[in-house]
Amino acid sequence: MQKIVSLAKRRGFIFPSSEIYGGFSSCYDFGPLGAEMKNNIKRSWWEDVTRNHDNIVGLDAAILMSPKVWEASGHLSAGFADELVECQNCHKRFRLDETKNSKCPECGGKITEPRKFNLMMKTFAGPIEGKATQTYLRAETCQGIYMNFENVLNSMRLKLPFGIAQIGKAFRNEINPKDFVYRTREFEQMEMQWFCHPKEAAKWFEFWKEERIKWYSNLGLKKENLKPREVQKEELAHYAKRAVDLEYKFPFGWKEIEGIHNRGDWDLSNHSKHSGKDLKYFDEESKEKFFPHIIETSVGVDRSLFAFLCDAYEEIKGARTKTTEAAKEIEILLRLDKKIAPIKVAVLPLVRNKPELVKKAKEVHQLLKPHFTCQYDELGSIGRRYRRQDEIGTPYAITIDFETLKQNDVTIRDRDTMEQERIKINDLVKILKEKL
Ligand code: GAP
Repeated sequence: MQKIVSLAKRRGFIFPSSEIYGGFSSCYDFGPLGAEMKNNIKRSWWEDVTRNHDNIVGLDAAILMSPKVWEASGHLSAGFADELVECQNCHKRFRLDETKNSKCPECGGKITEPRKFNLMMKTFAGPIEGKATQTYLRAETCQGIYMNFENVLNSMRLKLPFGIAQIGKAFRNEINPKDFVYRTREFEQMEMQWFCHPKEAAKWFEFWKEERIKWYSNLGLKKENLKPREVQKEELAHYAKRAVDLEYKFPFGWKEIEGIHNRGDWDLSNHSKHSGKDLKYFDEESKEKFFPHIIETSVGVDRSLFAFLCDAYEEIKGARTKTTEAAKEIEILLRLDKKIAPIKVAVLPLVRNKPELVKKAKEVHQLLKPHFTCQYDELGSIGRRYRRQDEIGTPYAITIDFETLKQNDVTIRDRDTMEQERIKINDLVKILKEKL
């Protein structure tokens, strides 16, 4: 894992937050390439749910909500708490499920009796800190969806079954954030809530489980590294009747990256009870009035990005090119799917000490920039530059050479096969669009 963490920092994917002050509490910042990749993942998810499926609309609700939301949702009670233990020797804190035989996982010391620790992050909305202004940073984005269930239903004139999708930040005061961006206190979720007739909930659960597995494989995640796991009754979250975790094989083991939950009528019925507002759905045809059941798909952006990075990372001993001095080294290749690769096209003049080549390469860069996320690079040997692009997963590299000046064509190099083909500059945008 350390190799991926170091690549992520070295090449501008992920940096520790507040690094000049020694970092802060397992918080991370996404660098230029990380931000592009994150946006690509979010765009792909958003397009998949809102365009490739019928009857799903988007929402962007506020992070801060009335604290009453969290009372009703059950997040302020023991249901949304981890069992905290402390090592009596090194005084490090852990979740009970991270320890074995009442021993500290780090030094083997004896641990204290577990006590419940609520994960909601408190804050104050207003200048005076007190009970009246206290609220919470949202712990899951979906509560904003339930708050707007009626607004969306009425304004969009929807009929069951339908979905509401949202992407946004969530916060949890995790006892032991760890494993890089796998478990952090601030993270981003992509959640879709599917409202359906109670009798159809089991059918839709299966449907969404399969759809979500397809999404990962469409983005190139290796099939053998993703598996669904039925969550056991005793592990279920307080709101769930059934849950399946989609687990990815990280370097530190199989771990959840997404949860598919059957939340039944937990949320709508509790919010109805606490707010006094009837959130039942009236079916015009059957004249039935009932709480729709909810099938939820919930994935962390940061966690899935980490999984995509791990999955794409490859080291080639001795390197793939045998013709240059690079052959002696270890070559890093990031086989990211084209849809999520942060840079789509690199533009490289063969050498930088020929002004006519550099001028032409800059023209090609200007031509491509409005269409693709491009990077222009003229520093170092062409072999080195190809490898720098391979390392960040750029699918195509365009080289401007002496032939270009005569023929007005360039070479396109494929990251994975290293094959090169010559293309007329006039056809370049069209061909790259087809390839990408
Ligand atoms: N609304 C349901 C819900 O929040 P969850 O299983 O607690 O369910 C869903 O979280 C997803 O959110 C997880 O599968 C994970 O990808 C992401 N996630 C949850 N806690 C996280 C954390 N502390 N750090 C990073 N991602 C997290």
